[in-house]
Amino acid sequence: MDGLTLVTGGAGFIGSHVVDALLMSGSDVRVLDDFSTGKEENLDGAWALAAQGGAGLQVIEGDVRDEVRMRDAADGCEAIVHLAAVPSVAQSMEDPVGCDSVTHGGTVNAVRQAVEAGAERFVLASSCAVYGDAAELPIAETTSPRPLSPYAGAKLASEGVCADAADAGQLTAVCLRFFNVYGPRQDPGSAYSGVISRFLSAAAAGEPVTIYGDGRQSRDFVYVADVVAAILAALQRALTGTSVLNVGTGRQTDLLQILDVVEERSGRKLERRLEPAREGDIRDSRADAGRSRWVLGWEAEIGLPAGLAATWEWFTAGDSGA
Ligand code: NAD
Ligand code: UD1
Repeated sequence: MDGLTLVTGGAGFIGSHVVDALLMSGSDVRVLDDFSTGKEENLDGAWALAAQGGAGLQVIEGDVRDEVRMRDAADGCEAIVHLAAVPSVAQSMEDPVGCDSVTHGGTVNAVRQAVEAGAERFVLASSCAVYGDAAELPIAETTSPRPLSPYAGAKLASEGVCADAADAGQLTAVCLRFFNVYGPRQDPGSAYSGVISRFLSAAAAGEPVTIYGDGRQSRDFVYVADVVAAILAALQRALTGTSVLNVGTGRQTDLLQILDVVEERSGRKLERRLEPAREGDIRDSRADAGRSRWVLGWEAEIGLPAGLAATWEWFTAGDSGA
């Protein structure tokens, strides 16, 4: 993208990597973030890149649901990457109203202000959670969604908001259904955090891990740099209307397999605390990424061993900039 790109949730895990990549490609970037889970230090590298002078960075602190803030943030933007949300399935079970307000309500406001600002492209961070427990794996985009949690429902509703605007000819929408993203800067700090960040930080600290259920639930874990590449392709490719695309590797791994790799890498046997399975959890997932290959020319390049090694490095040695 040559023009200005707004990244909502740009101080978060995935968002800060998107900001870095856009700046490195020479695009000017604006971030809107309320820093609820995002962190100032996630943008340290971005400020350093901007200081080199190739592209500019602006950061607005605010809520995506705030009309004035969102209007200011969207003003003059050619494209919007909308990542701000409450990203935890478990948290949405405990606070469905709060999750829907930010995740769905925030998207309503972001799309509205994108249209007002004349932004041409809107890229939504959707989720494979929308599929629920799919009858068949791998899961293609033709599979009917069956959300099992308020989080999944809010993501599906957000896709609808994007599609409505695209159907009305107001912008081009790309809804990317991320599978389970992991990598440097994923915050392990709460019970709601992504499982790989939880396991790696426990291993680094020599603390016990918690397993909800039997540990045989599986996910398609996709490394953050691959997800960033999919987002950049979604911004750059010649597209019209609405595209709904899976962003996953096509491989699935269960939690006990992840733990084996974590133990091997850390050289520590981890104490395992067993808890009942969490409500709203899906059992298994694996992407059919054929449509993304076709539409975006994208496929995941970083396998789990390499991705986990880079993430472990970050957890134990600080940000490698990965
Ligand atoms: P994250 O919590 O690190 O990022 C979310 C960012 O949004 C944070 O910086 C947070 O401060 C910001 N934010 C939250 N509420 C906001 C609000 N009301 N106004 C402004 N900013 C707000 O999480 P992440 O893992 O980087 O997730 C980014 C997006 O990707 C989310 O939409 C999430 O649902 C989606 N997603 C993530 C995964 C994954 O495995 N991590 C998978 C599928 C989809
Ligand atoms: C994750 C993302 C969500 C995304 C979805 C796509 C986070 C916080 N959630 O949800 O944004 O839309 O992928 O599939 O990034 N678990 C443990 N121990 C722990 C933590 C988790 O056993 O300490 C279990 C969970 O109960 C679940 C599995 O690990 O069965 C994965 O959990 P989690 O990493 O939170 O991912 P999802 O719920 O799949």
